[in-house]
Amino acid sequence: MTSADAHQPTPYEVFGGHDFFTSLVGAFYSRVTNDDVLRPMYPPGSLEGAQWRLQAFLEQYWGGPTEYSDQRGHPRLRMRHAAFHIDARARDRWLTHMRAAVDEQGLPPEQEAVLWQYLQGAAFGLQNVVEEPPENPPTGQIFNAEPTS
Ligand code: HEM
Repeated sequence: MTSADAHQPTPYEVFGGHDFFTSLVGAFYSRVTNDDVLRPMYPPGSLEGAQWRLQAFLEQYWGGPTEYSDQRGHPRLRMRHAAFHIDARARDRWLTHMRAAVDEQGLPPEQEAVLWQYLQGAAFGLQNVVEEPPENPPTGQIFNAEPTS
């Protein structure tokens, strides 16, 4: 057996290669276009470029071609998202559209679980606005050990 025979397929190949990522990211952006929270974050006319960037990034992340870094350098995703107000609502919209896009691809469940776990973790990691609970919680029966009468 030669070393070429022992080639371990990358997740990129296992998911379905370039066609898979084209379909996934296309399905995702067709939903972003109609989303009133996410759409305004993208400058007019920029969606096509954004679609390429997300797709190329994901392909590279999962072991496919390195076109993303060839053109964009180190991903630095936290930094590149800093300009956008990504609160829990934006994060959840992003994940809702991505979930629908993943569902459409019909991956075997174990592959789908790996992909989804990553996407979910990444989206939570890129949230950059966290709503703090009020500093002084309202007083009352629940917070007050003293009898009220
Ligand atoms: C949490 C919700 C998210 C929001 C609201 C969001 C929003 C955005 C926006 C508005 C852009 C600029 C579009 C452009 O490229 O011109 C962008 C870029 C990008 N996003 Fe996100 N994003 C989110 C999560 C993610 C996640 C989870 C990933 C990766 C798994 C990701 C990967 C990227 C990449 C690769 C770019 C292009 C960076 C560059 O090269 O400039 N985003 N995102």
